[in-house]
Amino acid sequence: MISKLRVLLFVFAIVSAFFLWSFVPGLLDKQELLVLNTFRLQVQNHDSKDQNVVIVKKEKSFHAHNEKEVVKNIKVDISSNSAEEEEKNRVKDLEDQLRDNIKDNKNDNDIKTVKKEIEKDKEKDKTIEVDMKEKEDGEQEKVKEVIKKQENTEGPPLCPEKGENLVGPLFIDQSLVKDLAPLEQELGIASGGNVEKGGWYQPTMCTPLTKVAIIIPYRNRFEQLKIFLRHMHPFLQRQRFYYRIFVVEQLFDDPFNRAGLFNIGYTEAIKMAEFDCFVFTDVDLVPEDDRNYYGCPTSPRHMSVAVDKFNYKLPYEAIFGGCGSFKRQHYEDINGMSNLFWGWGGEDDDLFARIKKRGYKLTRPAMQIGRYTMVRIHHFQSSQADPNRMNLLQSSNERMEFDGLNTLKYNLKEIVVDPLVTFFKIEMKKSMYNL
Ligand code: BGC
Repeated sequence: MISKLRVLLFVFAIVSAFFLWSFVPGLLDKQELLVLNTFRLQVQNHDSKDQNVVIVKKEKSFHAHNEKEVVKNIKVDISSNSAEEEEKNRVKDLEDQLRDNIKDNKNDNDIKTVKKEIEKDKEKDKTIEVDMKEKEDGEQEKVKEVIKKQENTEGPPLCPEKGENLVGPLFIDQSLVKDLAPLEQELGIASGGNVEKGGWYQPTMCTPLTKVAIIIPYRNRFEQLKIFLRHMHPFLQRQRFYYRIFVVEQLFDDPFNRAGLFNIGYTEAIKMAEFDCFVFTDVDLVPEDDRNYYGCPTSPRHMSVAVDKFNYKLPYEAIFGGCGSFKRQHYEDINGMSNLFWGWGGEDDDLFARIKKRGYKLTRPAMQIGRYTMVRIHHFQSSQADPNRMNLLQSSNERMEFDGLNTLKYNLKEIVVDPLVTFFKIEMKKSMYNL
């Protein structure tokens, strides 16, 4: 009898242990799980030969161990930063205030108070950029040339470097654009708006300092594209440069090749105008603050630093996903992006490796300015993860020379010049690449 009881107790203990164990991941909150996942990726990238790495949570950080020791240099802090939290709430309050002002049409004094706060933020953003500025280069010379030319002509004065009539935090309208025609009427040049056919704009009251190509990789996301265009045209116009929005649409059924589409957008855009700056952005990323500059500073810039999907935090230091900008010569210098990532993930990590390899320092806007809403509604289909991405990431540095702009293959099927955007409809297939 006693021995039966012992067996029962033993079985009960084992079952309970399993039961409790299954709850262990549940002890981590969402943010921690996010950190854990990206950390796991870093560990894999760090040393793929070391198969026995395990990750443990110790107080406020994760550590990676192999059988004998802590794997060097990998430790991720998961402690919450209360100063950042505070800042987040403050900006949120500002946004609400501004939204109310717009809604209720409150008097000018209220708006002035909000604007004053925004001015303070502007100062903060500047400091960060100055800290990050690294190398001066030939492009600066180009700008100087434009300035000189301007001084000797009678045309309009130069546009302000970072825009005019900026609002700061913006209301994000995610409602459906049922019919594009009224939006085209509102924004398009044909009916009194500012956007020229093909989705471009040039300030008339001042001479723009830069020509920016906005490039969007695309497939089957028309609802999101319409929301993007409604938000972005007025946003970009306040930044007072020449811009044109290009959508690169991958036709047919091969897995989506986000980075390849960026390369194609780049290659086709420079045939149309002398762009000196390129913004590569996902179609579902809508900036929440127009002080987030869509031009190109002295080195490559990662703009989507605080996305709502990631709790307005950078998921990991080396992330370059979402939205970023490059001067033309810098994009050429890194040979663009890889053409070999088919499906979700990895291509932006590969891009980060290229930037690092070439010795460029990344610039980023301040966290309270580089805020984004990811439009999740009206999204019907996601790409499958690329199973080969981890392997490819092992060779990012070596591949840069022979995988990118210089090995790009595609067929341009059609160019559609719509009132608010230019489409490049292209065919790009895995079978075109034998690497
Ligand atoms: C992927 C990136 C992606 C990031 C954030 C990483 O695991 O490799 O492509 O941008 O997660 O979602």
